Amino acid sequence: MDDLTTLVASARREFDACADPAALENAKARYLGKSGALTELLKGLGKLPAAERPAAGAAINVAKQELEDALTARRSAIADAKLARKLAADALDVSLPGRTRGIGALHPLTRVQERVETLFRSMGFTVADGPEIEDDFHNFTALNTPENHPARSMQDTFYVEGGMVLRTHTSPIQVRYMETHAPPIKIIAPGRVYRVDSDATHSPMFHQVEGLWIDRDVTFADLKATIVQFLRRFFERDDLEVRFRPSFFPFTEPSAEIDMAFGDGGWLEIAGSGQVHPNVLRAVNIDPEEFQGFAFGMGPDRLAMLRYGINDLRLFYENDLGFLRQFA
Ligand code: DAH
Repeated sequence: MDDLTTLVASARREFDACADPAALENAKARYLGKSGALTELLKGLGKLPAAERPAAGAAINVAKQELEDALTARRSAIADAKLARKLAADALDVSLPGRTRGIGALHPLTRVQERVETLFRSMGFTVADGPEIEDDFHNFTALNTPENHPARSMQDTFYVEGGMVLRTHTSPIQVRYMETHAPPIKIIAPGRVYRVDSDATHSPMFHQVEGLWIDRDVTFADLKATIVQFLRRFFERDDLEVRFRPSFFPFTEPSAEIDMAFGDGGWLEIAGSGQVHPNVLRAVNIDPEEFQGFAFGMGPDRLAMLRYGINDLRLFYENDLGFLRQFA
């Protein structure tokens, strides 16, 4: 029976040397298979004298059971090792916090637009809207800018099919509103506008807020009071300085650019403005002898840059969450 002891010991060594299930099954076959070493011993029982058979058979069965147990142990050891390798490869750290659903927040430009609307509403303005794809008449002609007028080249335009344009400013909303409403009119109109332009302070798509106040006696003084009041409340600074700089727009006369003071003696242009040109009123059948008023077109993206201290406008449009989360 020393043979048996040696055989079991060598089987154990072979099993333990197997690194994967296939190798282990091959090793099993060498001992327990049809012509495996242990099977051969069983077959040899018949040649033993009858008296020795029972003891020999029992010993062989014990050895067989030992081999089965060793195989089972080795199978689970191989499976455990495989799992351990997989866990290490996945770098699973069960102490990490679970994945939570992020909480959304408003984009800084949306927050600025809402703030602008709130402040103008408090001064009696309502909020109007208009299409982003405009026809030539509303974007230019009705705004006293006929075809071939040199002022058209101030706005480098994206043309779309059918003679339409991506609106270059929110001013066409003035026209659309006056076509459908009689004075008194007191609106702002925020929205996206488009121009062929791109650098740190220009993006091909940006925002404007149009303003329009038409009544019998609305003057340039009302324009100044409205804008100064708005800016001081927007920036929460009663001493904020605002400058009206003479300029030209076809749809206003007189016209002014509006600058606000910032930093150490710097001025930033934040709007164009003026008294609405009589030709604009005539284009929408409002009698300029009876009604007058002012309009402005403001850049809320610039207001956002100043409010949040951002030096490149394009950051607002890159959807980098690292940047955007700072304002949530
Ligand atoms: N639409 C002009 C622009 O985009 C801005 C502007 C200037 C709007 C004067 C106005 C205005 O309503 O009165 O450059």
